[in-house]
Amino acid sequence: MPHVVLRLSLTTLTSEVDDGQQWKIHMHPMLTNAVKAARRAGTIINRASQDVGSIKVHSKNYNDFVSEVDHAAERAIIETLQEVYPDHGFIGEESGNDRTDAEHVWIIDPLDGTTNFLHGFEQYSVSIALMSRGQLEQAVVYDPSRNDLFTATRGRGAFLNDKRIRVSNRAKLQSAMIGTGFPFRDFKHLDTYLGMFKDMIKNTAGLRRPGSAALDLAYVAAGWFDGFWEIGLSKWDIAAGALLVQEAGGIVGDFEGNETWIDTGNIVAGNPKVFAQMLQVLAPHLTDDLKSKSKYQAVITE
Ligand code: IPD
Ligand code: CA
Ligand code: CA
Repeated sequence: MPHVVLRLSLTTLTSEVDDGQQWKIHMHPMLTNAVKAARRAGTIINRASQDVGSIKVHSKNYNDFVSEVDHAAERAIIETLQEVYPDHGFIGEESGNDRTDAEHVWIIDPLDGTTNFLHGFEQYSVSIALMSRGQLEQAVVYDPSRNDLFTATRGRGAFLNDKRIRVSNRAKLQSAMIGTGFPFRDFKHLDTYLGMFKDMIKNTAGLRRPGSAALDLAYVAAGWFDGFWEIGLSKWDIAAGALLVQEAGGIVGDFEGNETWIDTGNIVAGNPKVFAQMLQVLAPHLTDDLKSKSKYQAVITE
């Protein structure tokens, strides 16, 4: 029975290696390149953070700022990855979409938390995910000001630097600390959000709004937050963080617990127990727009 022998030897292998060795084992070549790209972007961001007052800023929309640093960081990421993977596609917040029908597509937010960054408030990150044939495979969320590197490869667990991370095991929402993001650009769902917010305040130990959704999700993966929710994020805000949560043993869903979160950006994440209780608190507030849509409905409303 050769498969029994193989299972035994794998068990021995994982029980004998420490987190650091496991991390090296988990470093898939594509993840290694994504980390290299994220660190390059981090160097650009850290250098610019020494003098935020002199950074050129441009307003894309109401309360939506982009700086020369966002652009330079995204260029560095794409150049690093394109050099090794000339056939891959890219979805970048600042440069748009390129070959999204490719087998492998990188989803990039070069600076998640631009408003924090421009105010010298050190809570921001670089977020890079790889989606292969529609499935998230690799994730990097890098906090350059703290040098915190969160990584995951599908099926191989989630790590902070070289240590394995897992979601918290807190069982009750009432004692949970939950991350969130306020609406600040588009106020279509503001009243709905405030209703959710009120109920969450009453049913949790505390809410936090740090300002970088990618890091908020990484904190769920690390067990520092027990859960997170936000309305209407973009793919690049959540792709990498969501894989971190899943690989750390958590759950990611839309407001009804379904899979539309990557397209709608309506996202809930948490340890399995807290996730289920968050859905119950959110349920009475769901307008039609915030419910899961079937593929058919999504097509006709686009
Ligand atoms: C923003 C951050 C923020 C979230 C916003 C995002 P940006 O990303 O993730 O936490 O609340 O909705 O757009 O614009 O700083 O990359
Ligand atoms: Ca973002
Ligand atoms: Ca950004």
